[in-house]
Amino acid sequence: MMYVTRRTHFSAAHRLFNPTFTNEKNEAVFDKCNNPHGHGHNYTLDVTVKGIPDPETGYVIDLKKLRDIIEEHLIDKVDHKHLNFDVDFLQGIIPTAENICLCFWQILEPQITEGTLHCIKLFESENNFVEYFGEPVTIKRYDVSHSTVSIQTL
Ligand code: NI
Repeated sequence: MMYVTRRTHFSAAHRLFNPTFTNEKNEAVFDKCNNPHGHGHNYTLDVTVKGIPDPETGYVIDLKKLRDIIEEHLIDKVDHKHLNFDVDFLQGIIPTAENICLCFWQILEPQITEGTLHCIKLFESENNFVEYFGEPVTIKRYDVSHSTVSIQTL
């Protein structure tokens, strides 16, 4: 088995808060990341695909193809966007790096037809990053429309 990785970058804003928490609890839990008008990050995204290289091409997956899939399905949707407001698939999701990784996985996994998706690694900063290998995890989607909060478990 071999592992190939494509690295991409995007810049985006987000605000971390849980609409079911009080303001005080949101501040206590999320601290500066709870800043009401959000803040930005320059994210680095590493996508790793595993497989056996095709003997005819020597490729697990053509990295140009992988780049195009990542650009079309992920980067174009999030780059220079506010993750709390502008991105359909993140609506109501607390946009931590963990939750972003999970949503990215769900979108990307079915698009990878040569090899299989192995890991999504998202750097929020040089020192903070999350790796996700596709194990089942539960996250929540909070719908705050109509001044009530409904919660969907994903
Ligand atoms: Ni942040």
